[in-house]
Amino acid sequence: MSKAKVRVLVNGYGVIGKRVADAVAKQDDMELVGVSDVVADWRVKLAMRKGYKVFCSSPDRLEVMKKGGIEVEGLLTDIIKDVDVVVDCTPAKIGAKNKEMYEKYGVKAVFEGGEKHETAGVSFVATCNYEESLGKQFTRVVSCNTTALCRVLNALKKAFGIVKARAVIVRRACDVWESHRSGVINTVGPELHVPSHHGPDVKTVLHDVDIVTMAAKGSHNLYHMHFCVVQVGAKPSKEDVIKALEEEPRVVLVSGRDGVEALNSIVELARDLGRPRGDLYEIPVWEDSIAVLDGEVYLMWATPNESNVIPDNVDAIRALTELEKDWRASVEKTDRNLGVLSKLY
Ligand SMILES: NC(=O)c1ccc[n+]([C@@H]2O[C@H](COP(=O)([O-])OP(=O)(O)OC[C@H]3O[C@@H](n4cnc5c(N)ncnc54)[C@H](O)[C@@H]3O)[C@@H](O)[C@H]2O)c1
Repeated sequence: MSKAKVRVLVNGYGVIGKRVADAVAKQDDMELVGVSDVVADWRVKLAMRKGYKVFCSSPDRLEVMKKGGIEVEGLLTDIIKDVDVVVDCTPAKIGAKNKEMYEKYGVKAVFEGGEKHETAGVSFVATCNYEESLGKQFTRVVSCNTTALCRVLNALKKAFGIVKARAVIVRRACDVWESHRSGVINTVGPELHVPSHHGPDVKTVLHDVDIVTMAAKGSHNLYHMHFCVVQVGAKPSKEDVIKALEEEPRVVLVSGRDGVEALNSIVELARDLGRPRGDLYEIPVWEDSIAVLDGEVYLMWATPNESNVIPDNVDAIRALTELEKDWRASVEKTDRNLGVLSKLY
């Protein structure tokens, strides 16, 4: 399929959906047909204010949305025939249920990291395996954590080869908007199952990487923190590792020497960049944390969970529709339109 503008609908207008909608609206090769949801909260009301057409994803929610003040354009099933790609940003596991509808209407769909790899049959990180999704009906943009692991490991893999990678993830407890519902205070909750699901998930994109991950839930609500040890195939210097990371799209270096000393520093830095919502699309790796000891690369980075997968969603639309067959051309276009940087400061 190849046409001037791909018609995109975002199903589920929450943390990821509202960002994907804005990102799609910024692409000159895509048209945001509208967004669809099942509630009438302030988020959906802001979508209306932006001029986005709002649809209802479930007939039994239509009256609730109308009574809640939403000018609903119609049901999702009324518009879906006129859509090329649905980006399904509904909560985990609902996408898998929606797959039947997408199959019935013959529409392409991008699923998110809360869905299993098997739902789409192919998983996606634009800078790693764009080609695998070309022309497919479905793909899955992997989770924020998996995306970050893939981007950083891909840089090391291309430069030096990877013998094995081991990573520890301290996850944010919950998203900001829901912190009053499910926050965790003053503790760390380890995931007692090893490996955590992140390692196997990386292999859905970087198929041959030997990786094991462990994870814990922290008591903060912005960004995940990753600690990684990678046995590489060559004997790089610290400078070689820095160069490899600098050359990788959507990975940036930050430093404690510049006052970037913790997750909160990066949150504030991201706000100062002036992007919508203070979003950070890049993975900031601490240059100070990089060490090469006995052929193993040690490094730490932050994963901006609300926003790092947004550019990949845009690229996934281009891959499914074959709007662009070359991953680098799609990534460069998306990054130009979103203002993605190779240096944050
Ligand atoms: N929040 C994150 O940090 C993050 C990061 C990366 C990937 N993801 C993944 O993105 C997906 C969406 O997560 P989120 O955090 O944006 O969720 P969210 O809860 O913030 O938003 C989900 C939205 O979907 C709507 N919704 C619920 N049921 C629906 C239905 N049947 N049809 C249509 N809309 C429905 C909700 O009203 C809400 O607006 C999940 O797969 C999640 O795992 C989340």
